[in-house]
Amino acid sequence: MITIDVNVKNSPYKIYLGENILSLIGSELQKLKASSALIVTNTTVGPLYEEQISNICNAVVRTESVRLPDGEAYKNWDSVLMILNKLAGMKADRKSVVIALGGGVVGDLAGFAASIYMRGIRFIQVPTTLLAQVDSSVGGKTGMNMPYGKNMVGSFHQPSVVIADSNVLRTLPAREISAGLGEIIKHGMLADKDYFAELEAKMEQLRELEAEEIAKIVAGSCRIKSAVVSEDEKEAGRRACLNLGHTFGHAIEKLTGYGTWLHGEAVGCGLLLAAQTGRKLGKVSEEEVNKVELLLKRANLPTRIEGLSIDDAIEAMRGDKKSTSGVIHFVLMDGLGKSYVSEVPEEIIREVLLEGGYKP
Ligand code: NAD
Ligand code: GLY
Repeated sequence: MITIDVNVKNSPYKIYLGENILSLIGSELQKLKASSALIVTNTTVGPLYEEQISNICNAVVRTESVRLPDGEAYKNWDSVLMILNKLAGMKADRKSVVIALGGGVVGDLAGFAASIYMRGIRFIQVPTTLLAQVDSSVGGKTGMNMPYGKNMVGSFHQPSVVIADSNVLRTLPAREISAGLGEIIKHGMLADKDYFAELEAKMEQLRELEAEEIAKIVAGSCRIKSAVVSEDEKEAGRRACLNLGHTFGHAIEKLTGYGTWLHGEAVGCGLLLAAQTGRKLGKVSEEEVNKVELLLKRANLPTRIEGLSIDDAIEAMRGDKKSTSGVIHFVLMDGLGKSYVSEVPEEIIREVLLEGGYKP
């Protein structure tokens, strides 16, 4: 088992990575002296893993479950309310613990509900997608979408512990593995060119979920993310770089309808658009753009989207959380492995979108 420390100032915690480690949930509930537990999962993950986890938890403390409808389209207030109603109905108190069992959608919703129930109770992340294991379960961003945009409402609420069991990835559809690889490639692009090179060397083994290789890479991404989050928990500066590709990606998700493109797919497409923007600004070489494009393709991610309107995309990006007074801020690469946040002249963004398949 690999242990990684997330050293956020007031609430440090550990990430445990390994095979067959779900039983740790029981010992963690004991350590937390939980008065009761609520497993939050969804209609896909529940039938696969809820009974096993429920048995582990019930051996320690009274545990109930709630299954949300599956999908990004349900990352909304109705789902948050389902969790809050369940907590209130089971008489959960301030010592109760929420267990988020699922991908990034379940993790963000369960964490958000935990952050507002009785002004905040503890929660454990048990991420079951590759994307959630390398990204969304770490760092304490929680929330939900609104028709106005992605993750528009939410909170920073760190989990008490993250327990990421690599065995559960075996039931993931291939498309979801690719989506997770999108965020992994993002980590290499924004923070570590050696890690990017490691991905170039192993992409096919990663797609096949080869145990040893996937374990190293999940740990590598968690280390990159936890270092950034430990330095800047609430995104006052450096943390914004974790959103490389997301300004473009969130607009794709919004304009195509949440759930049509997977989040990691939209981010993958956004990563190439961000690299191309960097090339136009003279910060990224043509060779680096080509490397990014090739790696995304090898991860089986889409690199173009045809037919979206440039005006609609610009409008959607103005609503991004990094925009101030309608000015869009982009995360950009300063060569592979380095990143910064900047405004970009609108005509450059329009050119990049046009070349990327958008229509005027
Ligand atoms: P997801 O949660 O929708 O999961 C993808 C699909 O896989 C779902 O259908 C789910 O039911 C299914 N699934 C999950 N685990 C499974 C398993 N082990 N076996 C079979 N099927 C399984 O999507 P995701 O890609 O995990 O997460 C995307 C979400 O994460 C987005 O909403 C995004 O905004 C959010 N996100 C948050 C952060 C953060 O820092 N909080 C970071 C990145 C992404
Ligand atoms: N996924 C962006 C962040 O956690 O800050």
